[in-house]
Amino acid sequence: MNIDKRQGKRMRRYNVAVVGVGAVGEEMLRVLCQRNFPISQLRVFARSSREIVVDNHKYSVHKISPDNFEDIDIALFAGTEGEKGAAVTYAPEAVKRGAVVIDNGADFRLKEGVPLVVPEVNPQDVKKHKGIIANPNCSTIQFVVALWPIYQAAGIKRVIACSYQAVSGAGHGGVKQLENEYKEEGLLARAFTYRISKNIIPQIGGFGKADYTSEEWKMVHETHKIMHDKKIKISATCVRVPVITGHCEAVYLETKKNITVKRVRDILSKSLGVKVIDQPEQSKYPLPIDVAGTDEVFIGRIRKDPFVKNGLWLWIVADNLRKGAALNAVQIAETLCATSS
Ligand SMILES: NC(=O)c1ccc[n+]([C@@H]2O[C@H](COP(=O)([O-])OP(=O)(O)OC[C@H]3O[C@@H](n4cnc5c(N)ncnc54)[C@H](OP(=O)(O)O)[C@@H]3O)[C@@H](O)[C@H]2O)c1
Repeated sequence: MNIDKRQGKRMRRYNVAVVGVGAVGEEMLRVLCQRNFPISQLRVFARSSREIVVDNHKYSVHKISPDNFEDIDIALFAGTEGEKGAAVTYAPEAVKRGAVVIDNGADFRLKEGVPLVVPEVNPQDVKKHKGIIANPNCSTIQFVVALWPIYQAAGIKRVIACSYQAVSGAGHGGVKQLENEYKEEGLLARAFTYRISKNIIPQIGGFGKADYTSEEWKMVHETHKIMHDKKIKISATCVRVPVITGHCEAVYLETKKNITVKRVRDILSKSLGVKVIDQPEQSKYPLPIDVAGTDEVFIGRIRKDPFVKNGLWLWIVADNLRKGAALNAVQIAETLCATSS
């Protein structure tokens, strides 16, 4: 870690590693640069070495190895998940060498002692880390950013969520499959079980308990951990749609206390990281095509259930590669720096 004394101020600068240069890793490099993250030295790793260009900046990508993490302060992981994936193999090596790991994958999210953080909701949990902090799943992040202000104002009893998730949520492979199908080039890259152009697929991840998919269970368990409330009843259906970037969620919730639509709009409009676009008379609501490349969680179609007193609908849209992954990870790093300086 270096101290920069320019402009008479002491400013810490950090040695940062980015692991993986797929859909999320590239966005991570873009976000670090856009937010002027205080970097002393940046190292970029993947399975193979090469040069890449992101927004006219050239980056040398090095083949990953444990010793590459020597002197790294913060390691942002955006590699593959699973037993032989980047995080399981190299995150402990990075921690052993003194780095704090912020991991985008699912491997550590529900582990005891690993904070799962969305800075708009539970920034204080960052302090509890023992070397690894987990970034939640993309569909969970926008979900909790929208639910949290309502939960604080009126409590939440139960939630029913249907997600419409973009192909970039499955990485570069997902985008390639859709593009190839549009070009009628056949299934050169097969990220999904079925064709995705001219189609939607009601399965993200493998099927598990009670015939819900892993993606659907992530929304349940991760929300409970982030909001520190296991009593909220959550049931989800996650669907892949032929959109490049921008996850949408139609969310029905039942609050504990009655709350008016006006109050929900007011609260959400003043909430961190949220933008309300909700003018039904002018057909104005958030669309994935408009939110791609932006940082906020957009909310519209706010309306009461005509039959259930405390029932409320929301339409929630966010860029899955930015707030759903890279941006949230960099915001965790910023929170970490702020708490340790
Ligand atoms: N896409 C999303 O919206 C999203 C949202 C939230 C979380 N995530 C999570 O973020 C992570 C990255 O996702 P992605 O969408 O960016 O995937 P991706 O486009 O498939 O890219 C994966 C990257 O990881 C690198 N990699 C794979 N195995 C590695 C290893 N053992 N060591 C070092 N690097 C390795 C690959 O290296 P090569 O390029 O050399 O092959 C590639 O650059 C995943 O855990 C994913 O679940 C993704």
